[in-house]
Amino acid sequence: MEYRKEKLSLFMICDIKKIIAEALYNIIKKTTGETRQDNLSKEEIAGMIEYPPDINMGDLAFPCFRLSKIFRKSPNVIAETIAGEFTRDVEDAVPYNKIKNISCAGGYINFTLNDKYYIQNILNDIFEQKDKYGSSNIGDGKTAVIDYSSPNMSKPLGVAHMRPTNIGNSIKKIHQFCGYKMIAINYIGDWGTPQGKILAAYKLWCNDMTEIEEKGVYKLLDLYVNFGVEAEKDERLNDMARSWFVKLEQGDEEAVGLWKKFMGISVAEIKRIYNIMGIEFDSYDGESFFEDKMDAVVEELKEKNILKLDQGAQIVDLSEYNMPPCLILKTDGATLYPTRDIASAIYRKKTYNFDKNIYVNDMRQNLHFAQWIKVTELMGYDWANNCINIPFGLMNFGGQVMATRKGNTQLLDDLLKMAVEKVETIMEEKNPGDETLSKEEKKEIAKKVGIGAVMFGDLVNSRIKDVNFNWEEALNFNGNSGPYVQYTYARACSVLEKNDTDIDYKNIVITNNLEREIIKLLSQLPEKVLIAEREYEPSVICRYLLDICAVFNRFYHDCSILKAESAEIKNSRLALCEAVKYAIGNGLWLIGLEKTNKV
Ligand code: ARG
Repeated sequence: MEYRKEKLSLFMICDIKKIIAEALYNIIKKTTGETRQDNLSKEEIAGMIEYPPDINMGDLAFPCFRLSKIFRKSPNVIAETIAGEFTRDVEDAVPYNKIKNISCAGGYINFTLNDKYYIQNILNDIFEQKDKYGSSNIGDGKTAVIDYSSPNMSKPLGVAHMRPTNIGNSIKKIHQFCGYKMIAINYIGDWGTPQGKILAAYKLWCNDMTEIEEKGVYKLLDLYVNFGVEAEKDERLNDMARSWFVKLEQGDEEAVGLWKKFMGISVAEIKRIYNIMGIEFDSYDGESFFEDKMDAVVEELKEKNILKLDQGAQIVDLSEYNMPPCLILKTDGATLYPTRDIASAIYRKKTYNFDKNIYVNDMRQNLHFAQWIKVTELMGYDWANNCINIPFGLMNFGGQVMATRKGNTQLLDDLLKMAVEKVETIMEEKNPGDETLSKEEKKEIAKKVGIGAVMFGDLVNSRIKDVNFNWEEALNFNGNSGPYVQYTYARACSVLEKNDTDIDYKNIVITNNLEREIIKLLSQLPEKVLIAEREYEPSVICRYLLDICAVFNRFYHDCSILKAESAEIKNSRLALCEAVKYAIGNGLWLIGLEKTNKV
């Protein structure tokens, strides 16, 4: 699915790509003729520039395959031709002091950059921007609304809420880093017949607010689960639930009073979990908030002649767009889930004047979003284009039994607790009886690492793929896990802590390819953030973190840092450690993980 038409412009973030793209553009234009329509734009060329897999081949590479059609030659010959022009024309095509060598191989033109320019430039950026390194201004002056997590009321968060919560949180942070003003909305499912069921169950089997206050949302869940079981046996229960919901809709004092109490209890509990995960929302306007805003929507649909009567229900016919009809009013005149989403989107546009209106939901809701967004388009709202459904795949736990407290809901709280306990055990096994850290410090670290392990174990997967959560992988301190990234961050911190000399950031030399690899990866953070923003894909950041950690750890093992061969090399390696610390730290922030200086 294509989310946004505009091309990612790497142009503005990577100076050297811009210079090379500019030169390539001029050479291609000169060789093929000014007027060719199919010539690539500068932006397209910049976007095609790659990083060669082997650093010995060069620092950047341009593939010539797409040029075959324009040049009517093989990619190899084209590469040679362009490279020839480059070196001949170099004085005016590109400031040659920036590129040390140009070579061709397998249809690619490879560029080796001049160390002095390349390395110092990247590091200057990092040491200037520090915890802002990787950020951009593409969202400056723009507002994005993001609707995520959005659980249903009177239930605790289940493990199924983990993905929308994590993915939404990270997409929000990635956008913030790109300059957007973000409005995070928790659109709680607090309206509809399920509310009638809770009220009926409470009246039937509890009717005791002290018990509800004591046991909180877990008691409400109990009642709800029980209602389902009993209603199977006795149809009349469903009628009771319906009439309680009607009471609620009509503003009956008792119904509204209970509902408000239940809502308060539900929100307090989910906030407790969000707090553990470091997640915040700007608004908790749930479905009920739109109750009084729906008549206007129905009126508007009627006025615009979009509504159609179908077997007593009011629908919008979407057959022209290969979709089943969007249901607006039931036969009894009650509004539906799509009606509320339309009303809330209109409200969000009015209230926040969004440039993007993002929804993070599992892909089983794709049709629902496609339908109602289409309806807003048919209503003539040009912002329908800016309503973006971000679907994700399902998560399962590989048949591993999860502690289950209530009914068949696997609680997110239990999962997080279990993660922290497991990390505590691992820490104790790694350093039995370790006394360098206090009990509290150990607890604090285990919490950050345990929660981080779960969040990373989710986010490292491509959003759209189904995920099989696996404890061994998520907690493997040496594998592709959150703890591994946090550990690497702590390692960089601890080297810097042990150093007692001042670092001269302006005099950096590199002596081997590992250092060069580090520089290459450091230089990529800004564009990784842009890719993650464009694709709504936190896994891009996770994979970047794994890459930079792998290279940094190799460097740490193979190269002496504090005892380097010379003062100059020691200084440079320490500067690299500090730069890596910023890159990893910023990456962790983008995916919502906590940093720890010790592990
Ligand atoms: N409450 C819904 C659920 O639990 C998710 C709501 C998603 N947001 C929305 N605007 N429809 O499935």
